[in-house]
Amino acid sequence: MIDYAKTYFDENGRLIAETYDDVYFSIEGGLAETHYVFIEGNDLKQNIGQHTPFTIIETGFGTGLNFMATWDWLTQQNITTPLHFISVEKHPLTEYVFAQSLAEYPSIKPYQQHILKHYSKLTSQTINTVQLTPQITLTLLIGDVAEVLKQSPQKANAWYLDGFSPSKNPQMWQQSLFDNMAKLSHPHATFATFTAAGMVRKGLAQAGFTVEKIKGFGHKRHMTKGILA
Ligand SMILES: C[S@@+](CC[C@H](N)C(=O)[O-])C[C@H]1O[C@@H](n2cnc3c(N)ncnc32)[C@H](O)[C@@H]1O
Repeated sequence: MIDYAKTYFDENGRLIAETYDDVYFSIEGGLAETHYVFIEGNDLKQNIGQHTPFTIIETGFGTGLNFMATWDWLTQQNITTPLHFISVEKHPLTEYVFAQSLAEYPSIKPYQQHILKHYSKLTSQTINTVQLTPQITLTLLIGDVAEVLKQSPQKANAWYLDGFSPSKNPQMWQQSLFDNMAKLSHPHATFATFTAAGMVRKGLAQAGFTVEKIKGFGHKRHMTKGILA
């Protein structure tokens, strides 16, 4: 049975996960943060043309903002490389909340409408794949990352290591995740994450990634990026 997310919108319109007491994305510049942390953090502009198809694996699909922002970026940049985006989600949003979740980003709306046509299929089993366009394939792996990531149908060229903050959701940020990432990576796969928590940096280094702490988005001091050594 699907364990849907328990959520509410707070007085500032931010979508909050009750279970983790954390936001899905920051309302001040969520879209810009996705670009900075994940698209630039993975040097996608340089790397995406080097592998066909290019596979991104994300931890935590949530509202799909990172996926849709990446799809939109490819469109804006006229990049035609086929993309397989694979995302792991333990608690999918209900279709109703998913549809309401990105109201502040009208530029993303057409992508969300497209996904909504397939949303029930995308969240119905453990592994769900939909060819959204000839260029874009989306796979959602429904379940705990510790259990379902291993079932990924593809290895990653880039990792979007998202999720609630390690202090609020420590079960997600385990050494087994970093070790599985290394096993499921193509040579020279990159990763980027909004957090610079010490245990995340250490864990990724232990799994075999070079780890670089760089300036974070907006007021955040640091984030982390790297490459499989
Ligand atoms: C910060 S939100 C992700 C935001 C998302 N990338 C977006 O663009 O909206 C973190 C997500 O991780 C999911 N999550 C939390 N613990 C998890 C776990 N152990 N395994 C898989 N997903 C998990 C949550 O349900 C939530 O959707």
